[in-house]
Amino acid sequence: MNRSDLRRHLPSLPFVGSLAGILALGAAAFIYFGVYNIAADEPHTPAVYALLENLRDRSIQAHARGIAPPADLASAQRISTGAGLYAEMCSGCHLGPGVEKSEMSQGLYPQAPELATAQDLTPAQQFWIIKHGVKLSAMPAWGSTHPDPLIWDMVAFVRKLPGMTPAQYKATVASAPEDHDAMMKDMAHK
Ligand code: HEC
Repeated sequence: MNRSDLRRHLPSLPFVGSLAGILALGAAAFIYFGVYNIAADEPHTPAVYALLENLRDRSIQAHARGIAPPADLASAQRISTGAGLYAEMCSGCHLGPGVEKSEMSQGLYPQAPELATAQDLTPAQQFWIIKHGVKLSAMPAWGSTHPDPLIWDMVAFVRKLPGMTPAQYKATVASAPEDHDAMMKDMAHK
């Protein structure tokens, strides 16, 4: 095919331009008239769901790159402090071994994954998510109120959760410093 043939087969520039214009107008009207249902009790369309999931996964992978976990991530002290924080701040959404579904957990969209079932994230990715939260989901950014060492304590505990029995869960939570303030203070020694 030579050049003039090619030109004859390509749509003209004004045609492409007006098509793009019509699409942009359609998209603007779709948003302006509130056609999309943002309600949490109505799932995303499969296309929007796939788009958001991709956006989320790629963003987490990119942002967690270069975060190095502390050497003592598996220490008993981290796990017990993390357990106390988890029971207090996270179990209402993420539940736990032997923890009944809460009214909050049932109304979430996207659902908060049950962290006691297998997870496929690295410690760095879990740290990043817990510290910064996830937009367009109910996952809060705990880094606004908690220093990094406490976030690592939560990662330490979350990584121990899969396979824990309800009795082990209870015992680990019971081994935590008695209250939140004590855990925050504990921090000073780390
Ligand atoms: C108000 C509900 C809510 C609370 C409280 C909450 N989360 Fe989440 N969390 C979510 C939701 C919803 C998601 C899923 C976000 C998504 O789909 O991207 C999530 C995702 C996560 C993930 C990623 C899970 C995965 O495998 O994809 C981790 C880890 C996590 N939360 C840890 C925590 C920790 C630790 C706490 C407590 C400090 C906590 N969350 C408190 C709602 C919550």
